[in-house]
Amino acid sequence: MANTVPDISLNDGNTIPQLGFGVYQIEPKDTAEAVGRALEIGYRHIDTAEMYGNEAEVGEAVRASGLDRGEVFVTSKLNNGFHRPQDARRAFESTLSALKMDYVDLFLIHWPLPTRYDGDFVSTWKTLEEFQRDGRARSIGVSNFQVPHLERLAAEADVVPAVNQIEVHPYLTNEQVRAYGSEHNILTEAWSPIAQGRVLDDPTIVDVAEQVGRTPAQVVLRWHVQRGDIVFPKSTTPKRIEENFQLFDFTLDDTAMERISRLDKGEAGRTGPSPDEFDYIPA
Ligand SMILES: NC(=O)c1ccc[n+]([C@@H]2O[C@H](COP(=O)([O-])OP(=O)(O)OC[C@H]3O[C@@H](n4cnc5c(N)ncnc54)[C@H](OP(=O)(O)O)[C@@H]3O)[C@@H](O)[C@H]2O)c1
Repeated sequence: MANTVPDISLNDGNTIPQLGFGVYQIEPKDTAEAVGRALEIGYRHIDTAEMYGNEAEVGEAVRASGLDRGEVFVTSKLNNGFHRPQDARRAFESTLSALKMDYVDLFLIHWPLPTRYDGDFVSTWKTLEEFQRDGRARSIGVSNFQVPHLERLAAEADVVPAVNQIEVHPYLTNEQVRAYGSEHNILTEAWSPIAQGRVLDDPTIVDVAEQVGRTPAQVVLRWHVQRGDIVFPKSTTPKRIEENFQLFDFTLDDTAMERISRLDKGEAGRTGPSPDEFDYIPA
């Protein structure tokens, strides 16, 4: 079985590589090297954000790779302080100029912030619709949106988000939000797919890994892939960047899939904040 990353179709006709490389918490000084390594190994999808402070270094690594711009799928996200339409327009321009790119493949509202901006994320979303119309964001989506937030967009906006990027891993399987996505043609992107390492020494994961002769990280990432979600594990360790790319030359059987899904702890399993409450605006 060849290790080829599938392209998945988005609801707007574009496609996205199911496996990418995440750069949250990679220091700017280390980012170009890590992304460069990932591109060398074969990753063709990078997930960054204005909040991560390393968009410029992501752009630098893509240019240094020698790959054509069109060969790499680049996602960035609107930071929390810029939800008002005028601020969003300026922030999006800053993102493009930091990346030194004239478009991003995917642009997301990073957090819904339902307790900020008088609860208005709809005008923010309509501003992203502008970016898609003028071609500077090929696809647009949201991140950390809960079902009521998605229902509100469905009622008040024109474009259905292409993706919803949410926390998902074996300790937080997030089924309700994923189910809304699959019913409405919104792909789920699973952030912190290995729960920042916390699920890797779980006895069930270790046992499945032994049975299939793979590492715990590969087993967890494969579980996501078989559920149909998009993943972009982060690592600055060259060996792990390589390991996390080897997901498409083995499969998990139904029993292994179910055993892993049963590790769900619901809300108690979150590694990050609850999207209903999170209201952080960086200084
Ligand atoms: N939209 C959002 O609100 C949001 C929030 C969080 C994350 N994200 C996105 O999702 C991406 C991934 O999430 P994440 O970075 O939080 O966590 P993650 O990918 O679940 O885990 C990263 C951690 O696991 C370690 N690791 C990676 N591969 C490993 C392996 N094969 N074996 C053992 N340990 C391994 C890494 O260590 P080393 O680096 O030391 O190797 C790092 O400490 C982010 O980079 C970002 O793009 C989005």
